[in-house]
Amino acid sequence: MRFIIPLAAVALAFPSLAQQHDPAMHSQHMAQQQPVSGDFRQAVAFPLEMKEHTLTNMRDHLLALQEIQQALAKAEYDQAAEIAEKRLGMSSLALHGAHEVSKFMPQGMQDAGTAMHRGASRFGVAARDVAVTGDLKPAIGALSEVMGACVACHAGYRLK
Ligand code: HEC
Repeated sequence: MRFIIPLAAVALAFPSLAQQHDPAMHSQHMAQQQPVSGDFRQAVAFPLEMKEHTLTNMRDHLLALQEIQQALAKAEYDQAAEIAEKRLGMSSLALHGAHEVSKFMPQGMQDAGTAMHRGASRFGVAARDVAVTGDLKPAIGALSEVMGACVACHAGYRLK
């Protein structure tokens, strides 16, 4: 299981690499890969200070998602893009000390992190486009890919 979960995490983090998007198939996969009981996530050791810093960032990630949804609901697309880019996207990497932390991460975890950062930057572009196209669907889809990376990493890894 140790090896299967991180692989599933990568598949979730890169939906384009997955074979299908059928929700029924998806839940079937989840049923196979997620144990009914027990914790099969890979435990990753971070130095204590880095662990605290990471969990603080994580709580801000969740807050950022909420603020993004609120901005979308108010049709404040530039604001939604800016939150994503600054707090979750590529430009947040330095802010989060991602380079330091990545040294302690297994490859699959790094990949999920990269998928989140890239996805957030893509969402930023899609959100800014809404002001021109009036079509919110691509932005919502891109946001769901960002959340897919949260889900994938959480499914595969925990901190010691
Ligand atoms: C690269 C991996 C990774 C990604 C991507 C990731 N997380 Fe996490 N997150 C973790 C780990 C590891 C923990 C600690 C889980 C544990 O030890 O049980 C965590 C914990 C959390 C926590 C709990 C914080 C606390 O105080 O205990 C929240 C909230 C959270 N993440 C939100 C998010 C959100 C929202 C996203 C996406 C926008 C996200 N995370 C993306 C790895 C990740």
